[in-house]
Amino acid sequence: MTTDLPVSPAVRRSAELEAQLAGDPGRFRVLTGDRPTGALHLGHYFGTLHNRVRLQDLGVDVFVLIADYQVLTDRDVAERLTEHVEGLLLDYLAIGIDPARATVFNHSAVPALNQLLLPFLSLVSVAELGRNPTVKDEIAHSRQSAVSGLMYTYPVHQAADILFCKGNLVPVGQDQLPHLEITRTVARRFNERYGNVFPEPDALLSAAPLLLGTDATKMSKSRGNSIALGADADETARLIKGATTDAERHITYEPERRPGVSSLVLLAALCLDRDPHAVAEEIGNGGAAGLKRTVTEAVNAAMAPIRARRAEYAQDMGYVRGVLRAGNERANAVAEATLMEVREAMGMFR
Ligand code: TRP
Repeated sequence: MTTDLPVSPAVRRSAELEAQLAGDPGRFRVLTGDRPTGALHLGHYFGTLHNRVRLQDLGVDVFVLIADYQVLTDRDVAERLTEHVEGLLLDYLAIGIDPARATVFNHSAVPALNQLLLPFLSLVSVAELGRNPTVKDEIAHSRQSAVSGLMYTYPVHQAADILFCKGNLVPVGQDQLPHLEITRTVARRFNERYGNVFPEPDALLSAAPLLLGTDATKMSKSRGNSIALGADADETARLIKGATTDAERHITYEPERRPGVSSLVLLAALCLDRDPHAVAEEIGNGGAAGLKRTVTEAVNAAMAPIRARRAEYAQDMGYVRGVLRAGNERANAVAEATLMEVREAMGMFR
């Protein structure tokens, strides 16, 4: 697959890490997570979800966090939390996260994780928090009238998410790199001040290029431009039918010049596991209608088994909730052990 990304140091480092993963997967503990703010979509699937399952299947110990406290960074109230948490659980199980090997848990059920926030906050300056470009961008798009303290400090909470289980590898998109830098800073400073407790985790950048939404802007849970993993075949067809294309009949893959058309080509290519240029060439003079037919068929075929499994699990919500309960139990044991080490290292009276 061709990607048009420039090769940054983070991308180069990720290639090294991939080689180490193949050789010695047991050396790694992965922590990743999602905010329960809505249904996971195809952008998540090809961007990160798919990769989590791949890492799990390589034999890496994978922790998946449902970041329920983090929902409150850019809104005053976390709405429909239970529904969104259950939706995430269904999505994880449907794509192949295996609760026998991976640990799925949520912030609010793991008190010792959250307690790490206090010492961690003492390790970063207000100026450092204010410089975070991802936070700045989120403030610019926030739906709150006032910026809360959590907006500035959640990247430190994210450090607790990663470090409580001594995660040393974090699969992320570019936007999360500043947060990972804060995690590394927290780990390094903690170790310098109190003795060696934490690893300095690495980012693992996804090789998958960015999918746009059906309006040819960034695909997002909240923009109404995404195709949910749990959408059915008819809804998928309707959403793709309404997608933004352009007036040129001949279909090509040119992400810069033709973002809408190219993102659809890319989506088909990802589903078919083929090169996007080859897919575009095959559609050729089929125009937008031919393109949309190809994309709809490709998405529905690729997603059919996932959707079938999702529907099956939805019949047994008792089991699904039990997966989270068991994951929380494991996460609590891990978090309590780490907190104990932290208190000891800091010389706290017990
Ligand atoms: N900030 C991430 C997001 O918005 C979610 C998240 C919370 C996360 N804690 C994390 C991701 C720790 C990686 C590691 O998608």
